[in-house]
Amino acid sequence: MCGIVGYIGKQKASAIILEGLKRLEYRGYDSAGVATLTGSRFDLAKKIGRVAGLIKSTSAQKMPGTTGIGHTRWATHGGVTDANAHPHISSDQKIALIHNGVIENYASIKKFLLTKGYTFQSETDTEVLGNLIAYHYQKEPATSEGSRFVESVRKTLRHVEGTYGIAVMCGDCPAEIVAARKGSPLILGVGDGEYMLASDVSAIISRTQNVVYLKDGEIVHITAKSFSISTLDSEDVSPVIDKVTWRIEDAELGTHAHFMEKEIFEQPAALENSMRGRFSEDGSTAQFGGLNISAVDFRQIDRFHFLACGSAWHACLVAEHLIERFARVPVEVDYASEFRYRNTPLSKNALFFTLSQSGETIDTLAAMREAKRKGYKVLAVNNVVGSSIAREADGGVYQHVGPEIGVASTKAFTSQLLLGAMLALYVGRMRDMSFNDGVDYVHALKGAPDLVRKTLELAPQLKGIAKRYAHYHDFLFLGRLSLFPVALEGALKLKEISYIHAEGYPAAEMKHGPIALISEQCPSVFLVPSGEMFNKVVSSMQEIKARKGKIIAIATEKCDLPAGLADEVILIPECHEAVLPIVATVPVQLLSYYIAVELNRDVDKPRNLAKSVTVE
Ligand code: G6P
Repeated sequence: MCGIVGYIGKQKASAIILEGLKRLEYRGYDSAGVATLTGSRFDLAKKIGRVAGLIKSTSAQKMPGTTGIGHTRWATHGGVTDANAHPHISSDQKIALIHNGVIENYASIKKFLLTKGYTFQSETDTEVLGNLIAYHYQKEPATSEGSRFVESVRKTLRHVEGTYGIAVMCGDCPAEIVAARKGSPLILGVGDGEYMLASDVSAIISRTQNVVYLKDGEIVHITAKSFSISTLDSEDVSPVIDKVTWRIEDAELGTHAHFMEKEIFEQPAALENSMRGRFSEDGSTAQFGGLNISAVDFRQIDRFHFLACGSAWHACLVAEHLIERFARVPVEVDYASEFRYRNTPLSKNALFFTLSQSGETIDTLAAMREAKRKGYKVLAVNNVVGSSIAREADGGVYQHVGPEIGVASTKAFTSQLLLGAMLALYVGRMRDMSFNDGVDYVHALKGAPDLVRKTLELAPQLKGIAKRYAHYHDFLFLGRLSLFPVALEGALKLKEISYIHAEGYPAAEMKHGPIALISEQCPSVFLVPSGEMFNKVVSSMQEIKARKGKIIAIATEKCDLPAGLADEVILIPECHEAVLPIVATVPVQLLSYYIAVELNRDVDKPRNLAKSVTVE
């Protein structure tokens, strides 16, 4: 949540920062702002609304500075107002600052600063940071201005409780930025004669692919010519410069109307990338390079715990089904936000997995830390390389699906489904799954990208259905077993991007409550597999039909649905149980997407949401 960009170099900072903010806007879009430094003067522009609005309003403003910071906000403390937008400038005009995170003890710091004569323009927790840095800066012995600046930030952060990614400028230090992080992501880009700071790499890959992933508790001091990293305890840190593999085209829209559309259609390639090199030579099982846990130790695990939020939590539910079914090991799935406070009794030989596209979701990170504190190993499935969760995990698997920019997860979700299915295979083959069953399973997984390609051809049909159904205000999504989490995902997708109320339910459970909602005004989307559950799901459909509910059936090709039972039938390819949730997800994504487009919603930036939820 909230996007941070900083620049020091020879170019006009404001243009580069605004460009970076556009790429980070999916992190928050309540307001945006930029400040640059010319001599000791801050040039500041900030306003509510989108970055495009800020760009328009700054076009006539002279911001010649080559050092600057910018921010796109997802409001926590303080409403969506121009005054609450970042950057914030200290009341003595010495310090400008942007912040991502929450300062929990801001009230007591504010009280103290008021007694020292500092004043406040906003209702934010952030503003206290700028004023506290200014306070320490005034008190700091006058060595060099630069070290005085860094030390005042360091002293401030020692007093702060909460989370932060910050970038700070000081009026006395025209070509310097000090930045620091704790619990909020921050990356330093090392370019050709310039440096950039950003919350994630998409803001900087157009200028450099060399990055330093800052760690919690680290402070970076950047000047026009160099940078140095130290800790809150003043210890020097030797920087490690990594190379980012994402390309700038990956973060661009191309010919698509929205990133969500682009990412839905990228799924075949994304699945191929997620599975590449991850099958054994004999083609009977999966292999993962980074688990850091031996097969012997893996064999001892008597329970898996999966922790995640949002769509990733739905992916965990599918993994639970497949692992229990194919590997016969019990699995617990928890919302990360609940697990961290629940104090669940845990068995001795449990192993934890966290799933998180961004690797920055604060609840998932905190839940992971809680499991580690209790002495458990935690493996992580993440898409963003170098993210906080990936770094703190004991081992893990990268998704390799490229940047996901649309706020509603699509390609990252189906990649998580695939990796969960591969894990079920990996553990299954260590236990009772035969070589031949393993070979069939691998064959099925390898065929998933083509099945998804084929399913994407249904887009025109789903567009037509979306046109007919976009005016409804309530939807049910119903499925059983591994398709129940797909129903949850379908409902989530629809509500988050179209603002239509939708509920996902196990199909049979529907008669214990949601059936009360059924009328001609509340359509149901059924996920219908052929095979043993077919008749059961058809019975649930009959119950809806008897109450005049409209039915959209997403059914596999062999399903012989009674004539006239469903109002709309979308036929998806027959597939292996491990692949079915992936294939069945595609039509629910397309349906939600086209309904949202039909309603003229801001698909990639739905109201109130943010891509990466880095506050509790
Ligand atoms: C936000 C996003 C969701 C995502 C969830 C978890 O709510 O809008 O699409 O599923 O966070 O994100 P993560 O990065 O941990 O997978």
